[in-house]
Amino acid sequence: MAVGTLIVAAGSGQRFGGPKQFERVGGITLLEAAIERAKSISNRIVVALPAGIELPSSNSELAYTVGGDTRTESVANAFRALGDRFDYVLVHDAARPYASQALFERVVAALARGCLAVIPALESVDTLKVVEDRMVRETLDRNKIVRVQTPQGFQYELLAEIINSRKEATDEAAIAEQLGYPVTIVPGEELASKVTWRADLERLRLPRVGLGF
Ligand code: CTP
Ligand code: MG
Repeated sequence: MAVGTLIVAAGSGQRFGGPKQFERVGGITLLEAAIERAKSISNRIVVALPAGIELPSSNSELAYTVGGDTRTESVANAFRALGDRFDYVLVHDAARPYASQALFERVVAALARGCLAVIPALESVDTLKVVEDRMVRETLDRNKIVRVQTPQGFQYELLAEIINSRKEATDEAAIAEQLGYPVTIVPGEELASKVTWRADLERLRLPRVGLGF
């Protein structure tokens, strides 16, 4: 069971106010924290970094490549740099540095059971509404809504097909869905929430206190 992991870290962090993947928390960058948690389950990790910065040296277990203008392009570039075929490929955001090893394991376990595409999801505690021009158009059934996270896992050939389709989406699971493939959810975790705004750093650090994290 060989696992290749793509960590996308090529964004510019417009909402954060700078490339958040290089922000240091507890002495290490968010990107380093993400790599650390992915390591034990991955045979090879490829990290997509912004263009214009010097790439750290690569080895067979951890390699760096240049990302693209969109997340989808960064995933495609990282996939190309994976080189060999792996049984499963995980796609993970550097902006979710506190996703636990247990979450990575849960995703891989579902792939090992034969699921084609696997995504962590959390139920929505808030009611969600569709709005247009600041007016509510529709209230969604909360029981049918989940918040989706990474790492997202794919059987190798499916991710290859997703990338070759050249469709753009905020995540690869959405493309799997568009192509008509079943996408399975596994329980996500609050700690795997994305760092989008600077305030998210404080929010995500709180649960770490006293957990020996
Ligand atoms: N990402 C990437 N390549 C891009 C855009 C995003 O690799 N061209 C990565 C980000 O580095 C991040 C993940 O995709 O790890 C999720 O994206 P997001 O939270 O939107 O990060 P940014 O695009 O950097 O932030 P913003 O949208 O606020 O500019
Ligand atoms: Mg973005």
